[in-house]
Amino acid sequence: MSSQTETIRRVTVPQLRARKGADPIVSLTAYHAHTAAIAEKYCDFLLVGDSLGMVMHGMESTVGVSLELMIMHGKAVVRGTKRALVVVDMPFGSYEESPSQAFRNAAKIMKETQCQAVKLEGGARMAETIKFLSERGIPVMAHIGLTPQSTNIMGGFKTQGRDEDEWQFHIDDAVAVADAGAFAVVVEGVVEPLADKITKAIDVPTIGIGASKTCDGQILVMEDMLGLNDWVPKFVKKFGAVGEAIEDAIASYAEDVKSRAFPTQDNVYNNK
Ligand code: KIV
Repeated sequence: MSSQTETIRRVTVPQLRARKGADPIVSLTAYHAHTAAIAEKYCDFLLVGDSLGMVMHGMESTVGVSLELMIMHGKAVVRGTKRALVVVDMPFGSYEESPSQAFRNAAKIMKETQCQAVKLEGGARMAETIKFLSERGIPVMAHIGLTPQSTNIMGGFKTQGRDEDEWQFHIDDAVAVADAGAFAVVVEGVVEPLADKITKAIDVPTIGIGASKTCDGQILVMEDMLGLNDWVPKFVKKFGAVGEAIEDAIASYAEDVKSRAFPTQDNVYNNK
């Protein structure tokens, strides 16, 4: 390799795992190649989250997302990136039945997308599966607290741990998935002091969303933080106003088409 051509290496699972207690891990969801290419300049890992069902495909929850959809968007994000670790969500119904079902589908995701890891929802109840996958070459990011695939059991997207009696249950979940071999744990929608206790209870990084600034890293749904939607949950900070920018651009385009101000001479081909 000549000194002119720099080899770009992806962040690895052990590198991310080693960030426990170090500088905060930055991550976002990504569902397509162009935005992933921009995001990876600033993010350690990108998650092809099953939230894509709601964000990209207008579903009411993530329950309807298929393995094929995850693989399609996973491929796009891996193609669009060179540096960030790419994690792909296992959709509802693709892993809960047994460790072997989970292995079969996780291996399919990894082979077809070339991502580096998968994420699945659930605490202690998924520990056996996480151990099974991790021991067989599939790095697993766990996801505890508010787990959107269980929305029908929980009766909606409800903040967890408002009652202190629930805290030990969530801490036990975190310890179980970390002990089982998860290399990082997404902690979603839990009250702040509980997120802090979970972070202190385990020796792998916690990635907070609606959790606490004391987590080892943070993740947001990219479209939410870009301001693509009018309404976002309390835990989202809008870092942009992309929805307004898109609407302004489309309105100007429509105006120019109607007034024949577009296309101009610059936008058409001459025969000479
Ligand atoms: O699907 C998703 O986007 C997620 C994040 C919210 C963590 O799981």
